[in-house]
Amino acid sequence: MCGIVGYIGTKEAALIILDGLAKLEYRGYDSAGMAIFDGEKIRISKSVGRLKVLESETCGGKTMRGTVGIGHTRWATHGVPSKTNAHPHFNRQETICVVHNGIIENYIALRKKLADRGYEFVSDTDTEVVAHLLDYYYKGNPLEAITKVLHRVEGSYALGVMFAQHPDQLFAVRKDSPLIVGQNEDGCYIASDVPAILKYTRNVYYVDNQEIVRLRGDHMHFYTVDEEELKKEAVYIDWDANAAEKAGYEHFMLKEMYEQPKTVMDTLSPRIRENDIVIEEFEMPDEQLRQIKKIHIVACGSAYHAGVTGKYVLESLARIPVEVDLASEFRYRDPILEEGAMVIVISQSGETADTLAALREAKSRGFRVLGIVNVVGSSIAREADSVMYTWAGPEIAVATTKAYSGQLTALYLLAMKFAKVRNTVTEAEFEELLDSLKRLPDQIELLLGSKERIQRFANRYVGAKDIFFVGRGIDYAISLEGSLKLKEISYIHSEAYAAGELKHGTISLIEEGTLVAVVATQQHLYPKTISNMVEVKARGAFVLAVTNEGNHDIEKVADYVIYIPKTHPLFANSLAIVPLQLFGYYVAVGKGCDVDKPRNLAKSVTVE
Ligand code: G6P
Repeated sequence: MCGIVGYIGTKEAALIILDGLAKLEYRGYDSAGMAIFDGEKIRISKSVGRLKVLESETCGGKTMRGTVGIGHTRWATHGVPSKTNAHPHFNRQETICVVHNGIIENYIALRKKLADRGYEFVSDTDTEVVAHLLDYYYKGNPLEAITKVLHRVEGSYALGVMFAQHPDQLFAVRKDSPLIVGQNEDGCYIASDVPAILKYTRNVYYVDNQEIVRLRGDHMHFYTVDEEELKKEAVYIDWDANAAEKAGYEHFMLKEMYEQPKTVMDTLSPRIRENDIVIEEFEMPDEQLRQIKKIHIVACGSAYHAGVTGKYVLESLARIPVEVDLASEFRYRDPILEEGAMVIVISQSGETADTLAALREAKSRGFRVLGIVNVVGSSIAREADSVMYTWAGPEIAVATTKAYSGQLTALYLLAMKFAKVRNTVTEAEFEELLDSLKRLPDQIELLLGSKERIQRFANRYVGAKDIFFVGRGIDYAISLEGSLKLKEISYIHSEAYAAGELKHGTISLIEEGTLVAVVATQQHLYPKTISNMVEVKARGAFVLAVTNEGNHDIEKVADYVIYIPKTHPLFANSLAIVPLQLFGYYVAVGKGCDVDKPRNLAKSVTVE
């Protein structure tokens, strides 16, 4: 997501900022900007598109002279990519400026309060409230103003802040969004990530949640939100420059898998309010929600697989019939959309040609379309009637992981919203669901912790010819995605089957030693799935089972077992998919495949 770079010292700040932002390009962005104090005032320059535009508009930074400044690459969340919405953002007198990475969740309420006090907003961003709020609290002491603001804002943020009246200081603050600071003999640096400043210093400090850093040209001080000074130890970074862009991970795919707890948390937290679900973007009155008779989910690839899970969850919780279609089929099959139907399109990129065409098809017939989209301002986000964003941040690896997790989370929220409005779950069930949802990020984290064990297992299968994935109900949906992950990056033939269908064909392919991954998280289907497991074992299969903690009797049949923590059965996909992603990843790594850029595949399929 957004990138931040700041500098205060003896060198030209603009050059260091542009150089650092270029190192953060991998994070994805759609506009850029920087603010430099020129000796009298703060000057800002912003541009839409690649960093090169900002570079050329400032002659490589040479037209912005000064030794203190902050810069930003923006990945749009609130408001389309534009010069106005690009950071930095000013207060009204242009004496305080801010760059921000993250989401200020209570920005609507803060914006209203500030507007009532006469503050005028020029952008659509959540960030601008921080600039005005700082202005509101600033009485000559920047640190005091910042701490007051931190007590008011909710959500996630990494902030770089500059005050024209204090050009000898720069401030960095963070909560739940990454931020580091570093120092060398030329000055002090702020950055979202190590690569931005690796060229200048390898001694960095990881800013912890709700810590404030005051940077001066030759030293830095750390404070708590109560203005108490903190002592911190520098960490020496010994990564090579290449590894640094991946934050030390071997591949973007692995890094993105590790970002799944955050994606789930970011997709959930703005929408869970005091034991209720509020999906502000989906502003349909309850009465209208009650009248929806059918939902059509349309998507491609993994987004389609998320849709298959969505069908089970929506039908089970909200008792609405759901049809899931591949977008390439939907758009040409003259689908029957009856009155009272609603269409949901799911897309990480928001640009997939078939999904976009399906959206247009549904709209042209007068149906309301909700987009579950990751990339803000993308074509699907713009054309859908409402958009529910999955806050996964930019995904670089071609094989999706964190965006898929975000899509599942968005679908759970929708299903629960529908269920509540339509009274298809009791208060107690709703609370239990909510509780399970909130536990997902920690549980995903726990599963990621067992990566070495999965890696050892995966290493045995680098030479496999075929690998099958089977499951029933939601476990079938998980199998579809597990199989796709493996095949797209490892080039091993793989198929996913509804376990009950095995006997209608696939079982004839099982030979001595064929790996069959059996997903068995749905307790009501467990005995049936065990029977399927026994059947494939009888034909020589080696069985990998993914099941719930507590199902230890499975070890009598399965050859290798991965247990997932206890959750609501309808949310099991979010957990069971993690070991399967890791399995696919490590098989591909073991084979020496180009994991992040598998052959013949594209991240965003913009042609049909
Ligand atoms: C490509 C990507 C997949 C993705 C699919 C749909 O095949 O490699 O990871 O699931 O497109 O893309 P979308 O951007 O619409 O989610």
